[in-house]
Amino acid sequence: MPTQGSRIYPEVLGQLLEMMNERLKQLREDFDREIGLVTTETEATELRDRWVGRKSGLLTAEMKTLGKLTPEDRRLAGQGLNDLKTYVEAGIERLQLGFAAGREAEQLVRERIDVTLPGRRIATGHLHPITLLREKIEDIFVSMGYTIEDGPEIETDFYNFDALNIPSNHPARSWQDTFYLGDHLALRSQTSTVQIHAMQRRQPPLRVLAPGRVFRRDTPDATHNPMFYQVEGLLVDRGITLGDLKGTIQEFVHRMFGPETQTRFRPSYFPFVEPGAEIDYSCFKCNGTGCRVCKGSGWIEMGGSGMVHPNVLRTAGIDPEVFSGFAFGLGLDRLCALMYGLDDIRLLYENDVRFLEQFT
Ligand code: DAH
Repeated sequence: MPTQGSRIYPEVLGQLLEMMNERLKQLREDFDREIGLVTTETEATELRDRWVGRKSGLLTAEMKTLGKLTPEDRRLAGQGLNDLKTYVEAGIERLQLGFAAGREAEQLVRERIDVTLPGRRIATGHLHPITLLREKIEDIFVSMGYTIEDGPEIETDFYNFDALNIPSNHPARSWQDTFYLGDHLALRSQTSTVQIHAMQRRQPPLRVLAPGRVFRRDTPDATHNPMFYQVEGLLVDRGITLGDLKGTIQEFVHRMFGPETQTRFRPSYFPFVEPGAEIDYSCFKCNGTGCRVCKGSGWIEMGGSGMVHPNVLRTAGIDPEVFSGFAFGLGLDRLCALMYGLDDIRLLYENDVRFLEQFT
C-alpha cells in the first residue's frame, strides 16, 4: 500500500534513478566538452554562470526540482547532482587558477627590471666659480686673522663718495658711471664703501675682508659686466706702513698662486688712499716669461691699494695721529676668467648649467 505524498514504488524509483544517472552522465559529458572549448577568462566566467550561476545556472535549476521530492528521494537524487556540481565547480576553479597564473606570469614579464641597466644619475649642485674663488681668497685672509665683513649694496652719497674722500666733481659721481636710485642713493660701485662701515662699527686694531657685488654703468662685453665682484681688504692699527701692505699682498699671492709668484707696486691715484698703488703679480701661467694669459708682459693686474687717507680715518671716527692702515681692492671676475681660461666674463652670469657644471 502506497504511503501518502509522492512516495514512489520501489520499481518506479529504480527506473527513475537510472534515468537520473543517465541524465547526470550526459550533463557531465556536455560539461567536459564545453570546458574543453574555453580559451579565455571571460569564457570561463560565462561557463561558470551557465552551469552553476545562482540565478540561471543549469545545475542550479536542476537542484531546484529536487525540492518537489520527499526528503528520502531528494537524498538519493541529490547525491549525484551534488557530485556533479562539485565536479563542475572544481573544473572551473582549476581553469580560473590557470588563467590567473598566466596573467601573473605575463605581468612579471611586462614589469621585469633589467638590473644590468646603468642607473639614472642624480644631478648634484656645484658652487659657482666666483664662489669657489671667493672662498679660496677668504680662507687665506681668515688664516691671517681677518674677519669677513658685509655691507649694503645700496648706499648713500656719504658712504659711496664723501667718506671715501671722493671730491664732488669726481667723474665716479656722475650718473653716467653710477646707477642712481634717487638723488642721493646709488648702487655701490666699489666695495671700498665697506671700509667705512667697518671702521664705524669697530675701533682698531681692525683686519677686515669684504667680498661683494658692485655695480657700474658699463656696456657688457667680453671683459665688462654692469654687475661684478670685488674683494676689499682693510687693516688699521698703530704703526702700520707700506711695508705691511706689501708683505701682506706678497703672502697672499704666494698662497694663492704659488711661492714663486712675485708682486710689484706701481704708483697710482685713488682718492681714499695716500700713497696709492696698483698691484701686479707675476703671471701664474708662464711665471713671468710672457704668455697669452698675461698678454706677453709677464705681469697680471690684481687691483688697487694704498695707505688709508687720513681724511677717511677721521671721517670714520679714527684718529689718524694714532692709527694708520692700508687697504686694497681686487676684482674677482677677471681673475676668475684668467684662472679658468674663460674668453668672456659674461659666461659667469648666464647661468648656463653646461658651463657651470664644469667647475667643482
Ligand atoms: N675701489 C677701487 C676700484 O674699484 C680699488 C681700490 C683701490 C680699492 C685702492 C682699495 C684701494 O682699497 O686702496 O677700482
